[in-house]
Amino acid sequence: METVTHDVLLVGGGGAGLRAAIAVAEHNPALRVGVLSKVYPMRSHTVSAEGGAAAVIRPEDSLDAHAYDTISGGDWLCDQDAVELFVEEAPREMLRLEHWGCPWSRNPDGTIATRPFGGMKTERTWFAADKTGFHMLHALFQTTLSYPPVSRHDEWFATRLLVEDGRCYGVTAIDVATGKVYAVLARSVILCTGGGGKVFPYTTNANIKTGDGMALAYRAGAPLKDMEFVQYHPTGLPFTGILITEAARAEGGWLLNKHGYRYLQDYDLGEPTPEPVKRAMELGPRDRLSQAFVKEMEKGRTVASPHGEVVHLDIRHLGADVIDAKIPFVRELCLKYEKIDPVEELIPVRPVVHYMMGGIHTDLNGATPVEGLYAAGETACVNINGANRLGSNSLTELLVFGARAGRAAAEFAEADGDPPQAILAQALDEEGRIIRDILGPRRRGKERVAPVREALQETMEAEAGIYRDEEGLRRGLDRIAELRERFARISLDDRSQTFNTELIQYLELENLLDVAETVLESARERRESRGAHQRTDHPDRDDDRFLAHTLCHRNENGEPRIQFEPVTITRWPPAERVYGS
Ligand code: FUM
Repeated sequence: METVTHDVLLVGGGGAGLRAAIAVAEHNPALRVGVLSKVYPMRSHTVSAEGGAAAVIRPEDSLDAHAYDTISGGDWLCDQDAVELFVEEAPREMLRLEHWGCPWSRNPDGTIATRPFGGMKTERTWFAADKTGFHMLHALFQTTLSYPPVSRHDEWFATRLLVEDGRCYGVTAIDVATGKVYAVLARSVILCTGGGGKVFPYTTNANIKTGDGMALAYRAGAPLKDMEFVQYHPTGLPFTGILITEAARAEGGWLLNKHGYRYLQDYDLGEPTPEPVKRAMELGPRDRLSQAFVKEMEKGRTVASPHGEVVHLDIRHLGADVIDAKIPFVRELCLKYEKIDPVEELIPVRPVVHYMMGGIHTDLNGATPVEGLYAAGETACVNINGANRLGSNSLTELLVFGARAGRAAAEFAEADGDPPQAILAQALDEEGRIIRDILGPRRRGKERVAPVREALQETMEAEAGIYRDEEGLRRGLDRIAELRERFARISLDDRSQTFNTELIQYLELENLLDVAETVLESARERRESRGAHQRTDHPDRDDDRFLAHTLCHRNENGEPRIQFEPVTITRWPPAERVYGS
């Protein structure tokens, strides 16, 4: 088996991974940095982020205001020490990105332009039209190219973390082009593989977002934190799930029910005004807007479409000039994928899964409980997002915590030794599992990947969607057990090693099953309603019992086990979330 060695290994080539790679290279140019990514880095999901990235920049704004919006938006589940650090480092990181080439949109006087965003009580979202993620990722990618110690393994898929005595020494990975399995060794490893929205059927997430890093870490002994908190974005296109950015509402778009009525005024989210509402109504937090959609549907006030119930996003009154200048991508997506021109027509939208607030449990430097293993970005949970992330905090989060994880992993690599030879036995086992057990001729079974994956996604939408209850969550867990049995009977039609995407999808499905189970189990144990986690059988927030994070551990028998850990409160005691006043 071939071995590749780095000092610090990044798994994931999106925003967090690239920012971390730069941080390592800047910290110590002598360290060899590997970036291993299952897609070419510029195809990572960061590229599809649209609306913007939050950081205090206007004189009227303040770090405390950003912190408070984030904490109240997160329904008081955010760790406040993490939030304070985040809001403070955010402006520096964003300006730095500009120096690396990110073309932030400007005001006529040349200052950074900002737009309002959901749940933020002032304008603090920087943007590059409505292709913010594309420009950020470009700036990061081109910057990594200027650091010679950074080398890449594009289209390599990590299958297992190599951990000995609680210490991580690298991964095994398949080079997708050749199918060869490598031991990729390192003194420290940072997981930056994004979220796992593909456990659900309707999602803004790219097909690549299969919770890989979360599942790798979970199987290697790192707990997953707050997995029950899954964010639905209120405005996805009904069939494809493609994101219609919150920026469309920030620029003044309205959400209408089937009577053409701005229904959000009925949900404690403020009153409509002639001017674009910049603080509430359509710019309320995502959890509340998605829940309001369900209530409208129950009242029979949504619109039937070929792909389920929808409401309408109306941006016609903004006019073609504003739409083309500020949100051109919205128009492009509607024309291409819905065959409608939003300058003249209503856009059908529905809530679709967008983001996982939970992830690998880390400290403020991205360190996980497994020594030498770090995580950052959506795959991690540090936790600044609590029970409901505010739109535009996540792009900034990947900069701030990607950089911190990079520096910490670099320091760890400087201080610690090389991987022991014994670790190679694990890598050989994994190679055997892939080449002999999964691709080998003895593997027989009538199941195939796609139907099992579809059944999983349907289960999650039905039992762990916007509203949940004990019975449904138990049903979901039973279903996962059945799906695991079906998974064991899957055999692949393609047994070759060259570009075997069926093999990758099989391994991704294994990850999806683990992630789904942690979502269901964490949601079952949290018997209250908070943010994006709404239990119809426990409709109130219960701070006495649940002002706490769930940590989902994997027992030796493979089953999940939940432990609670207190939330860190520094300056903002729990209070009611108020919008629209
Ligand atoms: O609507 C959006 O542009 C999404 C932004 C975000 O999730 O941060």
